Amino acid sequence: MLLKRICWVFSIVLLASIVAHAAPTKEAGKELFTANCAACHNKNMKDNLTGPALGGMEERWAAYPRADLYSWIRNSQSLISAGHPRAVELWNQWKPVLMNNFTGLTDEQIESIILHVNDVYTAKPLTPVAGTGDTAGGGKGDNSNMWLFGGLALILALLAFALMRIVDNLGNIARVQAGQEPVRRTLVQILTTKGAVAFLVFALTLIFGYKTVDNATRMGREQNYQPDQPVAFSHKLHAGTQKIDCQYCHDGARRSKQSVIPAANTCMNCHSAVKKGTQSGTAEITKIYASIGFDPITNVYIKDYDNWSDKQIEDLYKKWIGQEYMSANSLTAMNDAGRSVVETQWEGVVKALKDDSNGKIQGPIEWVRVHNLPDHAYFNHAQHVAIGQVACQKCHGPVEQMDIVYQYSTLGMGWCINCHRETEVKFEGNDYYKQYERYHQELKDGKRDKVTVSDIGGLECQKCHY
Ligand code: HEC
Ligand code: HEC
Ligand code: HEC
Ligand code: HEC
Ligand code: HEC
Ligand code: HEC
Repeated sequence: MLLKRICWVFSIVLLASIVAHAAPTKEAGKELFTANCAACHNKNMKDNLTGPALGGMEERWAAYPRADLYSWIRNSQSLISAGHPRAVELWNQWKPVLMNNFTGLTDEQIESIILHVNDVYTAKPLTPVAGTGDTAGGGKGDNSNMWLFGGLALILALLAFALMRIVDNLGNIARVQAGQEPVRRTLVQILTTKGAVAFLVFALTLIFGYKTVDNATRMGREQNYQPDQPVAFSHKLHAGTQKIDCQYCHDGARRSKQSVIPAANTCMNCHSAVKKGTQSGTAEITKIYASIGFDPITNVYIKDYDNWSDKQIEDLYKKWIGQEYMSANSLTAMNDAGRSVVETQWEGVVKALKDDSNGKIQGPIEWVRVHNLPDHAYFNHAQHVAIGQVACQKCHGPVEQMDIVYQYSTLGMGWCINCHRETEVKFEGNDYYKQYERYHQELKDGKRDKVTVSDIGGLECQKCHY
């Protein structure tokens, strides 16, 4: 009996380790490549519309440590900004197209992809996979997860079978002692008992339940998450080119928990005058006007705008778009091409403003939230920005270079904790830290050379969890 159990434990450990340390294979590489890379890369020698051919990539990186190629695939931007010669060369050739980050790929998975790319003999033209572009590595790791789940399910099934046998044997011992005939059930009999069926249902529920909950709780909280926004507002233009301070718009960051997305009024500080963009003309800025009821032709805010009918609104802004675009004063005086520009632009405005939660053109622009911690975690901007003096970019990345904002950091618990372990608290000239007299004394006496966030309690569960 004991021996049997030891055997089981041993084989489970063995199986688990096989599953965990899967060696690189062409087959795994093919799946990973198709799911993550094929949208932008061919595996042969022919460049794609969006990226270079990966055929021969190993040779092109041969002059550098293998780890550099891994880092490139996991986060090409950081290698470019670190000035790595091959990375810079690639960037100069392909900018402004950037490669997604694949932080989740393990060394083995990357080696698998390389095996697949090098496997020229079975090379067939690959059909690009649509839609992998903005899920940015969404498929990463899924493959190995499936293996893990499969392996676990198998182990559990074997375990259950063994338990059944044990139960049978115990039953038989009792029967024999009582002078009855022992019963031996076949595999099929065992598999169709109530217990086995119940177990199967339980296991499947567990696996699918885990998957669903995992996906649901991570909704919109994926690294690199980059939803489309109702208005083509560009941080690259405003915070980058125009050098508008982050806190001019996100003025909550310094004073409160939330950073706050600016209301249309903030936009109007400039856009009551700047009525056209070089890229989009009136198409995007008209959305701001139509949301709050500003008449750009006469430069007045419309009284009673909330009670305007859709038709009244449509007439006004179509006139504005037409006049600005086609230099025609009435829609009827416009040619067909002009009218079609007006129609298309107006459709865009309606889609951005009317298809939202209040179902009206009037009312605030509903931006799609990019960053979103789960409810059980507490994060406070003022604590970090005003007291901790952490730069926005440290957590949000180079926002001033982003046309469309994406989630730069993982926002996972490990991310918070790591930074709290590493970051020194800025004590100098900061009244907030007066209370930590002991640390001040130790710093003065030379007993410690720094105080990190973890020293002041930054790793305590209740600081971050309600
Ligand atoms: C969104 C498009 C896109 C996706 C998806 C993508 N790449 Fe790239 N990749 C690029 C671009 C563009 C470059 C050229 C450099 C640049 O502009 O950043 C590049 C360059 C590379 C290079 C350098 C090639 C050389 O000749 O040195 C490698 C290696 C690479 N990618 C691997 C991968 C792998 C592996 C995947 C999938 C896990 C992948 N890429 C997914 C766009 C993409
Ligand atoms: C002119 C106003 C303006 C300026 C300046 C500005 N932002 Fe924004 N920011 C917005 C608007 C509007 C949104 C919502 C739309 C979007 O996500 O692009 C936003 C969204 C964001 C988000 C995503 C919020 C979410 O949904 O999770 C971050 C992060 C952010 N801004 C950071 C910054 C940083 C960092 C700077 C300075 C480098 C900056 N912003 C400068 C107006 C501005
Ligand atoms: C401090 C001034 C300022 C503020 C505040 C501001 N903008 Fe702008 N914005 C500009 C300037 C200047 C341009 C014109 C750039 C150009 O020539 O295209 C512009 C251009 C634009 C464009 C058109 C871009 C193009 O090239 O087509 C859009 C859309 C836009 N802004 C949206 C917004 C929104 C939405 C807000 C509020 C969240 C906002 N802006 C706040 C100064 C500002
Ligand atoms: C220490 C990391 C950190 C720093 C520094 C930081 N943020 Fe955030 N930011 C976050 C996290 C985490 C969230 C998600 C918060 C949530 O979901 O409750 C967030 C969310 C946001 C949002 C979405 C709205 C909100 O408040 O939830 C905006 C906008 C934003 N940040 C802008 C900024 C700006 C601008 C700065 C600099 C002045 C800044 N952040 C500095 C971590 C940071
Ligand atoms: C880039 C570094 C960085 C990241 C990332 C970061 N923090 Fe912090 N955090 C700090 C610094 C610096 C302080 C010190 C400010 C202070 O003394 O209150 C701090 C302080 C705190 C405090 C107050 C601790 C105390 O004892 O007073 C809390 C709570 C907190 N952070 C929560 C979070 C959460 C939740 C996240 C992740 C979503 C996070 N932080 C991510 C740097 C960071
Ligand atoms: C510096 C802030 C911080 C501290 C300290 C912290 N957590 Fe978390 N924790 C978070 C954040 C943020 C998340 C959400 C991460 C996510 O959704 O990916 C989280 C998630 C969790 C989860 C949910 C599981 C998951 O990965 O989503 C559990 C359970 C948890 N924390 C327990 C703890 C315990 C126990 C402690 C104390 C030992 C602790 N946390 C300390 C920030 C913190």
